[in-house]
Amino acid sequence: MAQFSRRGVVKGVAGLAGAATFGFPQIWIKNSGLARAAGGEIKVGVLYSLTGTTAIIETSLNQATLMAIEEINAAGGVNGRKLVPVVEDPASDPATFAEKARKLVIGEKCVSVFGSYTSASRKAVLPIFERYHNLYWYPTLYEGRECSMNVIYTGAVPNQQQRDFVPWLVKNFGKRFYLIGSNYIYPKEENNVCKILLQKLGGEVVGEEYVPLGHSEFSSVIEKFKNTKPNVIFSTVVGDSVVALHRQYKAAGLDPAKMPMASLTTSEEEVRAMGGEFALGHFTSAPYFMSYESPENAKFVAAIQSKYGKNAVTNFVSEPAYFQVHLFAQAAAKLAGSDLTPPTIREAAWGQEYKAPEGLVKIDGQNSHTYLWPKIGEAQMNGQFKIIEQSKEWVEPDPYWAYPGQVCTPKGMVEKKA
Ligand code: ACM
Repeated sequence: MAQFSRRGVVKGVAGLAGAATFGFPQIWIKNSGLARAAGGEIKVGVLYSLTGTTAIIETSLNQATLMAIEEINAAGGVNGRKLVPVVEDPASDPATFAEKARKLVIGEKCVSVFGSYTSASRKAVLPIFERYHNLYWYPTLYEGRECSMNVIYTGAVPNQQQRDFVPWLVKNFGKRFYLIGSNYIYPKEENNVCKILLQKLGGEVVGEEYVPLGHSEFSSVIEKFKNTKPNVIFSTVVGDSVVALHRQYKAAGLDPAKMPMASLTTSEEEVRAMGGEFALGHFTSAPYFMSYESPENAKFVAAIQSKYGKNAVTNFVSEPAYFQVHLFAQAAAKLAGSDLTPPTIREAAWGQEYKAPEGLVKIDGQNSHTYLWPKIGEAQMNGQFKIIEQSKEWVEPDPYWAYPGQVCTPKGMVEKKA
């Protein structure tokens, strides 16, 4: 399927230019709480849940982030300056995310914060990063339709996760989809994209349902799977619920060969928690799987297991959580001798490339999202995914891909005239 084209926009201004042109003198900006690295250290925030319903995946993001910081410091830091992580546990709760973000940005004056799994938590912290001109590095796959000047997005957007996956599912299993997700913005927006794709492919939605975060009782949902007999169960359930859904699916005697779950959110981490036999035969679309063979991935997996134990797994969110710290360090290194503030880091991050475990990645200089390598994996008994499809080239991020005419630029989202 052809990607919608975008662009025709002029490479634009850096983070603070907007405020400056509205008549705020530079001194106002200087005094407005802008974080600035001083002395021999660069303070960064680490904001992933270590408790609560999404700790199952966010713990791995915390670990991959801290490991990358250690690697950078062991190699001499950023032009000799050490990265100093300030770690907070937002407990899988958007209000706590906002409270901790305020502490990291206003109290600690971190020049960037690495954080969030759910889109709900990203939306909760955004006003703080925008108000204080700070920078949030977000590693998670998400629904797109966002274009903040204060976020670097390193996870997949729908054109990097669904564009090839949905046609592949229709071709291999059929056109009747049941959409099941957790009840918040991410699953609803991803399902809107799925419906647009299905409509183009002559597909049909036979059921759509949202369960509360942390939900663990799927019997009535599974009864609906049995009654509607979809060809594909398209899942955007997140956190602990992923484990419950898979276990109860198998216990109900459903067969992945006839009615597979096709997920955007089931990774090696949830599979490890549920046991490989419950994931066997189900599919996930993502730019990274632990089984991917590359020298960079072998090094990444070995480093994680050496630090966190031989049973530790890597996954499609921990990988960007890892590589985005390296991209941050490269951007900061480019600013040698100049002021290290979130807006200058953001501008320096545009166009940065890094040889990541999944392949060479790049931060787009227009929309601050990342070029990635989509893949489709089939879960195996050993908890790994067998990669059965992979993109031959990196895929440009297009956060408004499903909504032609809207384009993310350094000035924010703009409507392009037809
Ligand atoms: C998500 O909420 N972006 C997984």
